[in-house]
Amino acid sequence: MTALRVPTVLLAMVMIVGCQARAVDNEQVPPETRITIRFSHVVAENTPKGIAARRFADLVSERSAGHIEVQVFPNSSLYADGEEFQALLDDKIQLIAPSTSLVADLVPEWQILDLPFLFADAGQVSPSMAGPLGRRLLALLEPTGMVGLGFWEGGFRQMTNSRRALRLPDDFRGLRMRYQASPVRRQQFELLGARPVRGTFADLYRLLEQGEADGQENSLSNIESKRLFEVQRYLTVSSHSYLGYVVLADHDWWNGLAKADRDVLAGALAETADWLRANAPQIETDALDAIRASGNVLTHTLTPEERAIWRATIDPIYRDLDGWLPRDLAEIVRAISTSQL
Ligand code: LMR
Repeated sequence: MTALRVPTVLLAMVMIVGCQARAVDNEQVPPETRITIRFSHVVAENTPKGIAARRFADLVSERSAGHIEVQVFPNSSLYADGEEFQALLDDKIQLIAPSTSLVADLVPEWQILDLPFLFADAGQVSPSMAGPLGRRLLALLEPTGMVGLGFWEGGFRQMTNSRRALRLPDDFRGLRMRYQASPVRRQQFELLGARPVRGTFADLYRLLEQGEADGQENSLSNIESKRLFEVQRYLTVSSHSYLGYVVLADHDWWNGLAKADRDVLAGALAETADWLRANAPQIETDALDAIRASGNVLTHTLTPEERAIWRATIDPIYRDLDGWLPRDLAEIVRAISTSQL
């Protein structure tokens, strides 16, 4: 029997037309070749991180023509803060994007990013994370068995509480303030005269509603989307510390993926990081407008003079740096922070 000979040019045309017509639809990818990635995070879908996770999932689906499916689980619906690390290492989930404060539980050097007033503004964050600071922090993850695939910017933390307007350190006296994980955050509240209370993000509304904490610090989009403004009377727009995220995977799982798949994921993560850098500030501004419009909260924006007093009050944190940081990292921190004093 003679084999049917299709001219090469015709075959190429059929392949091109075939590719164009191919729908990006998971149903058309045989299940045995599809990679499913469960991406867990703790915040609401309409926050910078929540929107970024969805955009990332869509980009990956499109770029891999449905070969890789990213399923996003927001709002601590699978795991709360802290539980996510073990779930990742156990391969129950494949990607997480915890706030960098949580990573400080495993790698103390990550507390650098919790230092109050480290970055003057969002413009200073990205060059620092793309430079020696970001590279050193990612390298320090190695013993944890996790790999950091990139930084996602969230915004800055602002103070809220149910008792009084926070203008000067004296206003913090005796307030129970919820903090997230890192000892630097605890120390910040102690120096300001408050009593720190550790709690997960999933439990935060309850802590505030039931009066187990008087206040907390968070991004405006977290305050708005989790409706914390319903149980807080005062908001100080202080932008006193950075709130950013790191996208993490289990090291062995990541390295077991085909290079082409890793490239699709890494490309989509980087593109999403760019999108966040450009869009997170507007999402935060919109959240502030929504909080103000609720009429529930009295807002104060820290003046430059008040900011200088807060900074002077927490200065012992900076004087302690050599006690817990290797010299090169302490020097990087001093260079970033003194550039704005
Ligand atoms: C928190 O304070 O727990 C949040 O900032 C968590 C998050 O991921 O944004």
